[in-house]
Amino acid sequence: MQTSHRTSRPTPRTLLRAGVVLLLGLGLGLAGASSSQAGAKPSITKEPFGSVGGKAVDRYTLTNGKFRVRILTYGGIIQTVETPDRHGKLANVTLGFKNLDGYVTSKNPAYFGALIGRYGNRIAKGKFTLDGTTYQLAINNDPNSLHGGNVGFDKRVWSATPVTGGGAVGLRLTYVSPNGEENYPGTLRTTVTYTITGDRGIRIDYHATTDKATVVNLTNHAYWNLGGEGTGTIDDHKLQLKASRYTPVDATLIPTGKLDPVAGTPMDFRKPTAIGARNRSAFQQIVYGRGYDHNWVLDRRGSGLAVAARVSDPASGRTLTIRTTEPGIQFYGGNFLDGTLYGTGGNSYRQGDGLALETQHFPDSPNHANFPTTVLRPGQVLRSTTIYQFGTD
Ligand code: BGC
Repeated sequence: MQTSHRTSRPTPRTLLRAGVVLLLGLGLGLAGASSSQAGAKPSITKEPFGSVGGKAVDRYTLTNGKFRVRILTYGGIIQTVETPDRHGKLANVTLGFKNLDGYVTSKNPAYFGALIGRYGNRIAKGKFTLDGTTYQLAINNDPNSLHGGNVGFDKRVWSATPVTGGGAVGLRLTYVSPNGEENYPGTLRTTVTYTITGDRGIRIDYHATTDKATVVNLTNHAYWNLGGEGTGTIDDHKLQLKASRYTPVDATLIPTGKLDPVAGTPMDFRKPTAIGARNRSAFQQIVYGRGYDHNWVLDRRGSGLAVAARVSDPASGRTLTIRTTEPGIQFYGGNFLDGTLYGTGGNSYRQGDGLALETQHFPDSPNHANFPTTVLRPGQVLRSTTIYQFGTD
């Protein structure tokens, strides 16, 4: 089992992962600067985006060639991602809201685009024991704790610093979660750097340290619709997952602890398969999730970046390839979207109008000794990287 993303080396705050060629950290206060040649040179601009609880929120727009991403300091939310189809036509392919109020008033129950912490996914009955102490988290997804509790990282205002270098633009977000916040132990210092690459990639580097043993599982909860948000379901999208096993769940979507083979079941995405082909199946796991809402165990060797998933939309030709250092990926088919949320373009989001692919450690790991550990101790550094690469077929 892989635990190597938690290293006990000293704690350099700069990003020095093997294989990283981008020199981030050269940011020199580009906030407010804008390129007059958007589309030619990478650029980053900043604008006020309202406030929450008396804290100002900014929106950053990162542009590199024909690729534009908007990120909010509220929740580290990826608000929009504009990328071309096979004819060069741009569309926003991620689900979200038009303005800050959309996120704050609704409490963003679907976690559109948000950074998730401290613990992405579910912890059974919100309870875990670490070094002999039992911690009780908020039960916000009855009977379990989901995505960090009542006020997770998705609802915090992060400090932001633009970073440039190596032909890329990025935004470094930092949030210090005090000891005991949402009942998790330890002061957790988290830095998440979004980097927009010239070849239509979003790279996310996660970095975290603690002053007391704790559990952490960081991810991003963006939903994708490669035809454009608000244009209908993702049933025709083809999905490929590099996974021969998955973690089956009980009726409350908590893993049983087994790693089951996908072979011969609707969970088998080893070959590209239309999502709508099997998401209405009577297979017990699909029934429990009202469709797909499961963690796949990635087939991988070592702890480096490896392809986890590929999504393609035959109609627009847009593709998304996801690489990660994480051991698992949650494929959630937007099953609980019920038409009550109105998105960036004004349309309501209905069941299956977007899919989330959350790179992660397995759900409820603190209660399963056979899963890769999510424990982070003082002196260790959590490092994790995921890349969303857009393209066309
Ligand atoms: C979970 C879903 C949940 C959704 C909330 C996903 O990560 O797996 O069960 O409904 O987040 O938007």
